[in-house]
Amino acid sequence: MLYPAGLRAAVIAAVWASCTLSAPAHAQGSLQPDGWDKDVRLAEAPDRNPDPHVVEVDLDARVAPADIAPDQHVEAWTYNGGLPGPLIRARAGDRLVVHFSNHLPEATTVHWHGIRVPIQMDGVPDVSQPPVPAGGTFTYDFVVPDAGLYWYHPHVMSAAQVGFGLYGALLVEDPATPVAVADETVLVLSDIGLDGTGGFEPPDSGGTTGMAFGREGNHLLVNGREHPRLVVRAGAPQRWRVVNAAKSRFFHLELEGQTFTRIGGDGGLLEYPVSLEALVLAPGERADVIVAPAGAPGSEIVVRAYPFNRGFGSVEYRAVEDLMTISIAGAAPYSPPAGTLPLAPRRAIDPTSTDGATNVAIDFTIAQRANGAFEYGINGVPFAKNHSVTARPGETQVWTITNKTKWSHPFHLHGFFFQVLDEKGRQVHPLEWKDTVNVPFEQTVRLVVRYDDRPGNWMFHCHVLDHADGGLMGMVDVGVPPAGHASHGP
Ligand code: C2O
Ligand code: CU
Ligand code: CU
Repeated sequence: MLYPAGLRAAVIAAVWASCTLSAPAHAQGSLQPDGWDKDVRLAEAPDRNPDPHVVEVDLDARVAPADIAPDQHVEAWTYNGGLPGPLIRARAGDRLVVHFSNHLPEATTVHWHGIRVPIQMDGVPDVSQPPVPAGGTFTYDFVVPDAGLYWYHPHVMSAAQVGFGLYGALLVEDPATPVAVADETVLVLSDIGLDGTGGFEPPDSGGTTGMAFGREGNHLLVNGREHPRLVVRAGAPQRWRVVNAAKSRFFHLELEGQTFTRIGGDGGLLEYPVSLEALVLAPGERADVIVAPAGAPGSEIVVRAYPFNRGFGSVEYRAVEDLMTISIAGAAPYSPPAGTLPLAPRRAIDPTSTDGATNVAIDFTIAQRANGAFEYGINGVPFAKNHSVTARPGETQVWTITNKTKWSHPFHLHGFFFQVLDEKGRQVHPLEWKDTVNVPFEQTVRLVVRYDDRPGNWMFHCHVLDHADGGLMGMVDVGVPPAGHASHGP
């Protein structure tokens, strides 16, 4: 279409104006009261590299005192002395260098959950690196290719080490994000098991029956705090980047009937947003949501955690728990200026074609040995004895995962994203890139994964970490010979 010069200039100006409206969040002013998120604001790992495309941080695992509430102190296992560990912030395409040192009483590693790292950086002991002994160091050095919220945690005795407090968030920002919300907070959800006398509940309580269930902590934490508070302006949108870092607990959150607009998941933005009354996150999963709490000045909205049915024994005698309070400040409610469009970030995601895909069938199983001990397995065989799935770089696989047990298992694949399929093998919409998906008890989940060219022995496992410890783990050997399974801890 041809416009007269003057009109064309006006059209260009209008397009320009609409671009600036969707400029990156930090370009716009906050709509929230000063200090609105001070209860939950995470410490950030300082970047000591002046190169704008390199983020270089120190990460020190050590035992340190943590105050989870005014009357609750614990000697936690921490990164840099904080519970959770520091927020690491980078931009998609940056190189991240992490100088890790281990001042814990035992060996550990750092795994970068969801990041498409080279295998040498995956943090699995004896597969991708030797475990970092007490007193040892290791330098992690890789590019963060994809925007999204990720997280880091140990992969040695992980149910115990994560349970004691070792986890942190890694936020990979998109320099060209279409999400025009100025106020953003990263929320690391977890729980911790305290024995009431200043110590931890033993990580092996209940023996293999405790393992079969998946031990949950008895204090719910948001960024390491019990019952924190956000102080907000009614109606003003805020973006929550949420990760479930609990070792076994699923979170089902509600906002007293107000809605969450879910815009993203594990691997960045969704194809299109969805509006939800409940936000459910299995261990390991992430959500990117916009909320705009409504209410009269001085009122409160409680974010509640509801019992979630993850199988036998998980909801009986369980109460709804208060997780966090949202206080509506005195300021006049915010209403979006006339003419602004509703926030609806979209993302073009290509469905991964299943044409010519190899089929992989996996059963999650549980067995009781002669001595009565429970043991999880893949196709009836626990990790130490099971055989790898094999794949070639560039190969596409459709996995059919059948959970034959009475407990739900959040399946997590290292190193690669997948897309979830329905019963007919078609993509579930909105499309999203996932690395962790719940396989509910006695149900089947299908997914499609295309391996890019990063050869290696990549793990998959249940992210209820007790279940992983109890045998629910396996490996995909992509373009490399199989690794023996017996020695590698979860
Ligand atoms: Cu967050 Cu092997 O996992
Ligand atoms: Cu992982
Ligand atoms: Cu499990």
